Amino acid sequence: MREDKNLPLRKGATQLVFGVGDPETEIVFIGEGPGYYEDQKGEPFVGNAGAFLNQLLSSAGLTRQEVFITNVVHHRPPQNRDPEPDEIKAYGLYLDQMIDIISPKIIVTLGRFSMGKFLPSARITGVHGKKFDVNWEGEDLVVVPMYHPAAGLRNPSVKEQTVEDFKKLPGILEEIKNKESSKKEEVEQMQLV
Ligand code: URA
Repeated sequence: MREDKNLPLRKGATQLVFGVGDPETEIVFIGEGPGYYEDQKGEPFVGNAGAFLNQLLSSAGLTRQEVFITNVVHHRPPQNRDPEPDEIKAYGLYLDQMIDIISPKIIVTLGRFSMGKFLPSARITGVHGKKFDVNWEGEDLVVVPMYHPAAGLRNPSVKEQTVEDFKKLPGILEEIKNKESSKKEEVEQMQLV
């Protein structure tokens, strides 16, 4: 991505904000795009929304180090404007490769732009904190849409709701793992017959 001169937002940005965390994780979080502090530091979610995201992760028993956090665009849009569809598409080529390489069990979308990538017709008010089975480029994933942490900072009831939604993540992960191990057992028993 550093070499790719065609990435549409690179000219106005200080640096690439690729992603942070464990590339072998089971949970990937995808936000919108770098803001001022992320552009300065080269790391996603290090400003106010990032501080709240850290709190949300901790309420789910998780840390930044054990998940992977990235965005739908990896250069800061000018004046923090919304990313445009052609920009999301351009960075999406790389985001898809990240997802393919990490191969997570859960993708948590933070805000409407990353939700729109996996659940194009969903409305956040109706779906936040719920799990959706998605086949993404041939891979079975669970997508959990969440409100963007910045929305929680603006609205106390969204904040409270988002804390509750994050607390559901360990249970969702456990459920996926249980399903996988009973499927594996079933296959093993069939092989014995
Ligand atoms: N908001 C985002 O969506 N991403 C960041 O990295 C920071 C703030």
